[in-house]
Amino acid sequence: MCGIVGYIGHGSAAPVLLEGLRRLEYRGYDSAGIALVQRRRLKVHKAAGRVEELRRRVGDDAPGSVGIAHTRWATHGEVTDANAHPHTDTSGRFAVVHNGIVENSDQLRAKLIADGVQLVSDTDTEALVHLIAARAEETDTLEAAVRAVLSSVEGTYGLVVLDSKRPDELVVARNGSPIVLGVGEGETFVASDVAALVRHTQQVVYLEDGEIATVRADAFRTSGRAQTVELSEEDYELGDAEDFMRKEMAEQPEAVRRALRGRLDPRFATAHLGGIRLDPRELRNVRRVKFLGCGSAYYAGQVGANLVEELARIPADAEPASEFRYRSPVIDSDTLYVAISQSGETLDTLAAVQELNRKGGRVIGAVNVVGSAVARECGSGVFLHAGPEVSVASTKAFTNMTVSFAMLALLLGRVRDLSAAGGARLVEGLRALPDQIQAVLDTDAEVAEVARRYAKAEHMFFIGRVRGWPVAREGAQKLKEISYLHAEAYQAAELKHGPLALIDRDMPSVVIVPNDELLTKNISTIEQIKARGGPVIAVTNATLPPGLVDAELRIPSNSPELDPILLTIPTQLFAYHLASALGRDIDKPRNLAKSVTVE
Ligand code: F6R
Repeated sequence: MCGIVGYIGHGSAAPVLLEGLRRLEYRGYDSAGIALVQRRRLKVHKAAGRVEELRRRVGDDAPGSVGIAHTRWATHGEVTDANAHPHTDTSGRFAVVHNGIVENSDQLRAKLIADGVQLVSDTDTEALVHLIAARAEETDTLEAAVRAVLSSVEGTYGLVVLDSKRPDELVVARNGSPIVLGVGEGETFVASDVAALVRHTQQVVYLEDGEIATVRADAFRTSGRAQTVELSEEDYELGDAEDFMRKEMAEQPEAVRRALRGRLDPRFATAHLGGIRLDPRELRNVRRVKFLGCGSAYYAGQVGANLVEELARIPADAEPASEFRYRSPVIDSDTLYVAISQSGETLDTLAAVQELNRKGGRVIGAVNVVGSAVARECGSGVFLHAGPEVSVASTKAFTNMTVSFAMLALLLGRVRDLSAAGGARLVEGLRALPDQIQAVLDTDAEVAEVARRYAKAEHMFFIGRVRGWPVAREGAQKLKEISYLHAEAYQAAELKHGPLALIDRDMPSVVIVPNDELLTKNISTIEQIKARGGPVIAVTNATLPPGLVDAELRIPSNSPELDPILLTIPTQLFAYHLASALGRDIDKPRNLAKSVTVE
């Protein structure tokens, strides 16, 4: 969702800002805007629609060496030029870009209107710029004015403020919505996401929540220190791939290798996860594990819960963070909570962590983006090391979540009753995963052929049981979001309690069939579907009776506990090829954003 870019330095601001916005397009947006200081006056351009349209309006050689820019994902008010950021005060001297939500904006706007201010947009952000302009009359510095205004604001923000009469500084502020500074040579970059910075610098400083700072071309003072991000422009480039989802699926073997690197201990048949900061005694005292995340991250948590129960024999479950945060959860001091988020920005997940911290729960993160809000709020955890994920549909981050949870489960198991031999089997299994994932990716052409065969279906079931159940849910999710086909996940044994009525020859079922102790049960589920004329596509490593199913998407066998990680891969390819056959915009599915920073 919304993205921020800012620049102050010796160079030309417009190209940096426009290129930065382009880098943030993947997050999802519906309008864009830019404010530049030209001869101590603001020049503002806005465009509902794409960044490319904004670029056309701004032109390639717009002057100005300081500016701010924004991509907006509408929350307050429609998608119009007027509602796009930056917002300016009545005199046109100040400009603001803002990510997040001002919760008391109705009161703030009402007060401004009562004071005779004419508001020109429907946004919460516009109130901020008018208030800052009024305060700046009374304060010595812009920072003091911003500080005073933000003390009366309820809600979340990542904010950049520009005063055209002070073109040598920007004021930045963060509360719940990330702001990161990029350190250049005589120039400073500002962004809501490092993706917009890595072209220019690898030296970055993350603002802390509650922090407000004045940024100049060659100086700024923040509580955090500069750190080096190990990301470059190429990490955000397509290269030879058709789209990011394809690129990111193909990166999974390497992403899993990165997640495993230095974390497996063959000698003691366990895993090292130093970042969770729990010693063996504390690990032994964990009586329950609860995984919290949204969407695919929640389904990855379900895979994690199964792994923890199987390997460590302690109760574990997963819950959507969006439910957890609102139901006044009972926080148990013996429970280890795991907050899962690729982006580290999902508002519901962040709010769940804040609720846990407020109530004294013990929470660790499983986060991909270093320095993100969820990672910071957790303070400890497992970084996923999947590399940047640009496609809206999560693939490699999902896989690395499940791999990380396998290591967590192994660790919890090994401080309990999981034997050294059992641990060694898991260590070997984890090590085998990257090559096995590659082997599944190599079946791409066969999966594509099957996907094309079913591209005319209007509805599809994804059926799984126990280990296969979260795989089915994630498979249905992938198909829905990128193909827009109606896909519904169901537990295998539940089918006969109602949904079996929907089965006919036009309702294909993708059935997840691990080669485990429930194989015969899954075979009888398939027989029930076939008896009613329903086509069945099995995702399996088992040997199925000849002629039982209409198509098989095969995976190699690992340890049964780890097989769900492999079973997910064909469902990604299946969704991808089906969506391609339907001509969908794979990386930018309609109505969806990569980072969901609103409620
Ligand atoms: C699905 C997908 C979403 C995300 C969800 C949580 O492919 O990507 O369901 O998993 O929005 O996002 P993060 O992991 O960034 O918290």
